[in-house]
Amino acid sequence: MKHFLNIDEISTKEIFKIVKTSHKLKKNYGKKYLKKKKILGMIFEKPSTRTRVSFEVGIKQIGGDVVVLDQNDSQLGRGESLKDTVKVLSRYVDIIMYRGKEEKKLYEISKVSSVPIINGLTDKSHPCQILADVMTLEEKFSDINKLNLCWVGDGNNVCNSWIHLTKHYNFNLAISCPEGCLPHERILKQFSNDKLRIISNPNEAVKGADVIITDTWVSMGMNQSLNRLKKFKNFQLNSKLVNKTEKDSFILHCLPAHRGEEITNEIIDGKNSLVWDEAENRLYTHQSILIWCLDL
Ligand code: CP
Ligand code: NVA
Repeated sequence: MKHFLNIDEISTKEIFKIVKTSHKLKKNYGKKYLKKKKILGMIFEKPSTRTRVSFEVGIKQIGGDVVVLDQNDSQLGRGESLKDTVKVLSRYVDIIMYRGKEEKKLYEISKVSSVPIINGLTDKSHPCQILADVMTLEEKFSDINKLNLCWVGDGNNVCNSWIHLTKHYNFNLAISCPEGCLPHERILKQFSNDKLRIISNPNEAVKGADVIITDTWVSMGMNQSLNRLKKFKNFQLNSKLVNKTEKDSFILHCLPAHRGEEITNEIIDGKNSLVWDEAENRLYTHQSILIWCLDL
């Protein structure tokens, strides 16, 4: 069974195949793909706009259908365990997408499910997002292996999945986070190589960057304290910081954005913002992940 749990656990050949199919699906969008109807079950322990809508539209557009469970409208809200829920759901549906609070639970359900599980974000990772980001960069640049990428902000779940991606691509990735907000030491050690650099000063980190990537300073499930926000004061993507690249740099942000916090309006709405293409590309990437997991 082919689960889509984390990017580093999938072979380079398969990652390239998923991204290539995403481009093809975009070109042929709206053409029915499935010979036999497949049903996707989605479980949400956290809110979502893009992931939810793009998976739902994505499966429907290739000839499948969807059923959605969240805390409020299922027995999950009354304490039925996630594992029991998945054991039952996997007898009704062909594939499950799970957006969860704890990554540990993702691996637990992958062991009890009789159908493939897709990681739709956990506290530790967001692999679907990163493959859509790769697709977006491939539309803009001829070879993403030659790029200087710079992550500025919180070393969070999205940042972790970028680090996982370094297993498959040769781009340079500079990471700049305030003290105490770096990705976990274990992941930095595991993926340590010359191309992955931690540079604490954001003005230094962005130098020469072709693409700057950021995300919220307060991820879902975290406490938004004033002290925490203060730490990020110098890590905002504004024109002053972006000009420090001394290049015509492009911008990625997985959204939702907190305008005026991690990114300013002029940058997210600017001519070099790839953010809206990035959001659109979730659609084709999710179709491709579904097709890959289902071996279609
Ligand atoms: N980027 C992303 O995953 O957005 P949603 O939380 O809206 O799904
Ligand atoms: N890091 C963010 C990503 C949202 C898509 C969060 O986990 O809230």
